[in-house]
Amino acid sequence: MQRRISLIPQPQQLSAAAGDLDLSTLDAIAADPELHPLAWLLSDLLNRGTGLRLAVAGPETGGRVLRLRLEGDRPEDLTTAAEAYRLDVTADGVVLAAAHPAGISRGIATLRQLLPADALREAPAADPVVPLVAIADEPRLRWRGVMLDVVRHFQPKDFVLKMIDRAWLHRLNVVHLHLTDDQGWRFEVPSRPKLAEIASWRAETKIGHARDEAAGYEPTPHGGIFSVPDLREIASYARERHILIVPEVNLPGHARAVLAAYPELGAGQDKPVSPTFGVFEEVLEPTPEALDFALEAYTAVAEVFEGPFVHIGGDEVPMTQWESSPVARELMEREGMEDVRGVQAWFTKAFCERLTAMGKRVIGWDEILDGGAPAEAVVHVWRNEAYVKKAIAAGHQVVASPEPYAYYDHYESDDPQEPLRIHGLTTVDKVAGWDPVPPGIDPDKVLGIQCQLWSEYLPTPRDVEYSAFPRLSVMAEVGWTNLDVREANPVQDRLEDHLERLHAMGVDYRPPTGPERWQRGGSGRRTRFNWTFQEHEAE
Ligand code: ACM
Repeated sequence: MQRRISLIPQPQQLSAAAGDLDLSTLDAIAADPELHPLAWLLSDLLNRGTGLRLAVAGPETGGRVLRLRLEGDRPEDLTTAAEAYRLDVTADGVVLAAAHPAGISRGIATLRQLLPADALREAPAADPVVPLVAIADEPRLRWRGVMLDVVRHFQPKDFVLKMIDRAWLHRLNVVHLHLTDDQGWRFEVPSRPKLAEIASWRAETKIGHARDEAAGYEPTPHGGIFSVPDLREIASYARERHILIVPEVNLPGHARAVLAAYPELGAGQDKPVSPTFGVFEEVLEPTPEALDFALEAYTAVAEVFEGPFVHIGGDEVPMTQWESSPVARELMEREGMEDVRGVQAWFTKAFCERLTAMGKRVIGWDEILDGGAPAEAVVHVWRNEAYVKKAIAAGHQVVASPEPYAYYDHYESDDPQEPLRIHGLTTVDKVAGWDPVPPGIDPDKVLGIQCQLWSEYLPTPRDVEYSAFPRLSVMAEVGWTNLDVREANPVQDRLEDHLERLHAMGVDYRPPTGPERWQRGGSGRRTRFNWTFQEHEAE
């Protein structure tokens, strides 16, 4: 019952032989002790989807086994070598070998895709059979991520865990959590109880598009907050899968929720947590108290998420309040700043110093370039690809999420029945054609790529799923697979098989033919809203 081998991302090297291996004929999963957590995870997943129960044994176990093996010198974390693996399925068993446990984790994701799609279900629904194959694989880029916006609409913890699993299955290695914004604050900081009491919810929410003023507001409270144990659970769930969580605490702008709770930290009038979407002028005042607040918040996430990066946000910071603030003016005089944008640079530098002292590396949106950022800060490019060049020229490494390719809150097609989105048009074909490291760009400076699931117009997990899939699947291949391999194996040819996997996992993906009837915008509050979005110019 040889099946077509159809994997996303496409491995760099793959050769298939005739025939299958029935994993139920194996005796055990034989693994180095360090790999036992991954071995048990694999054993549990095989059990769930196929009913097979393979025990985990030591590396000395011989005979017919599914072997997980570490070999060679260990590469550093977050290198492509750390995620490289070899996967050999023969009539005698399976050998999955890598130099780093992260590579074993990626190989497990590939092995799961070699099983029938129904093996991805939560209860036994398929035979544990995989085709005979030899795979040698390593990602093109070091950082392949997805951002979840749990602010504009709260995404519950079980959905965050599901998205970590889906990232894993696509061999992504980063899940970026956008935890704070004008519309809410989504993680507990025990020393700042008003974040939970006030900043974690809003009294009403804009109906339809923020620009559709006539549509009014829905007066139902909306909110949610992750407790410290919730964050710990998310951290350890991701760690088990060798997925890096990058927590984002977005300051000094996008600060309406913080300032609703602690107005004394602001530079303007008191306002509630924002019920609508857009860019607001409320910013932190550049004071020692505001820096102390930021430090408490960054410490809270840095302690729970042990990965090397903390995202400081820094996008869309209007200068208006600082222009009329005596505190900001005094800072500018003291520091000899000529341009008010120096106030943002002052925050960026202070955040970098404090996070560096905690052993962390800072990443921030491309606006941190305005007014200057310390060279070791990673620039997260969002406006367009011109900012990739600008950031590299300024000496930074970048993560590329240019809106035209990586914003999956954009419309999926021109179909008038597409549900409400912010603007734009990012089709599957457009994502499939993306080369994030075109000639002329130093590949060493591009850490990788990431897609963004902003949730202003994605109110529920099902809306997130529709906009994420299959665009996220295609982006995963853009980040993983070398250009020549992609060109020889167009991802569109494998999508249909991949959608069977998404279906088995219960993902409400967008079909290639357009939205299902229940996925359409209809004629009410989810109807498509057309306006002309001016693409960002590079400065
Ligand atoms: C962003 O989309 N403002 C980062």
